[in-house]
Amino acid sequence: MTKIFFRNFRVSCLQLNKCNYATAPNAIATIKLNNKEYVTDDYTNVTPKILSYLNRNLHLKKDNPLSLVRQRIVNYFYSSFTHRGNPTFSVYENLSPVVTTKQNFDDLLIPENHPSRTKSDCYYINRKTLLRAHMTAHQSELLRSGLDNFLMIGDVYRRDEIDSTHFPVFHQIDAVRSQRKEQLFQDFPDLELFEPTFDPQNPHIFTNSIKDPNKQSCHTLEATKLMEAQLKNHLIGLVQTLFGDNIKHRWVEAYFPFTHPSWELEIFYENNWLEVLGCGIVRNEILANAGPNNTIAYAFGLGLERIAMALYKIPDIRLMWSKDSGFLSQFEDKALNERITYKPVSSYPQCVNDISFWLPPNLTIDTFTSNDFYDLVRDVGGDIIEQVKLKDKFVHPKSKKHSLCYSIIYRHLERTLKQAEVNEVHKEIEKAAVKAFNVIIR
Ligand code: DAH
Repeated sequence: MTKIFFRNFRVSCLQLNKCNYATAPNAIATIKLNNKEYVTDDYTNVTPKILSYLNRNLHLKKDNPLSLVRQRIVNYFYSSFTHRGNPTFSVYENLSPVVTTKQNFDDLLIPENHPSRTKSDCYYINRKTLLRAHMTAHQSELLRSGLDNFLMIGDVYRRDEIDSTHFPVFHQIDAVRSQRKEQLFQDFPDLELFEPTFDPQNPHIFTNSIKDPNKQSCHTLEATKLMEAQLKNHLIGLVQTLFGDNIKHRWVEAYFPFTHPSWELEIFYENNWLEVLGCGIVRNEILANAGPNNTIAYAFGLGLERIAMALYKIPDIRLMWSKDSGFLSQFEDKALNERITYKPVSSYPQCVNDISFWLPPNLTIDTFTSNDFYDLVRDVGGDIIEQVKLKDKFVHPKSKKHSLCYSIIYRHLERTLKQAEVNEVHKEIEKAAVKAFNVIIR
């Protein structure tokens, strides 16, 4: 099977989902997304369930592992590329996932009959509009706006089966790095980006061919090879930053409609070759159509889930969507480079009970030691205490009495806890706190 995008496509055996937007006969069915209304048609196959993932923005949520990986990658690019003390790359992480077929396909030279355009692979809102299938969908518009070095980060949508490593919504970072002749060939002013037969001022009179596996026909071999060397160095630097200097890697030749030559980078991780990104030299037609006609660029795209799952040993992609504090707290307030190994939490539900108390006159909200309280909770509650966190501090405006509120999260590893038994334990904790700290339960 042809590989279109970086991600192992399976032959999808899903039935085409007929969308159930109930409408009266002759009425025009519309879908409203982020305050914009879209008229549905015979292409519409996006479901309410899928639409419910829009705006979750996991990649921007502080405690989500995807956000940790995002920050580490952005930092790598910020610190590796600076110009007069400023970061060279600009970062776009709030672009709307609702895009046109022009953005997702046409601008990237993906042919009309390409399998990646089919209704069975994408979530269409209507014939002309879909949920982006890759972050590369924004490449042309950002080039057109005059940018030359940028990262695009966000959620992408592809129809697929759901299992421990596949989910129809996932997250990507895509990037473009462009250079003019004077930048790329600083040290070799005699070298050129383009072959003499190609006139960058009139790109459209030249048929840019990709028959030669080494380069596009408009580019010189020197420019392509130097870009390739930089691209590969930068990306190896990135995986070494994430996985350590000794990470074993290999380059695999690849094909993408929007780059030539193209490669995939695989790393050897826990006894498996793991594909982590796709990349290549941007097809000159894309640059010429979008504006900059005197540059050569490389681009790459990588999936955040796959990296986060490997780095933190997260066994199931669905956990990324968890709102369960047993999951999120493991990534909370961590230094970016800290080694984190995810510890599976029980799949039985949590019970959350709050405890609030007035402090005795000799203590204030700033002098009370929360850690003492945490120990007491664990002493009394034992293994069913999953987490204790400070929820609120309060000073009464009139009485000036100080009060604290903590949430206690209970969960049993082998069975569902009954609220009544949790309440019993909670009462015991209240009694013990009164005794130990002289507090008054509110
Ligand atoms: N868009 C590709 C995908 O989703 C990944 C990719 C490959 C992005 C090569 C790029 C690139 O920018 O140059 O699978």
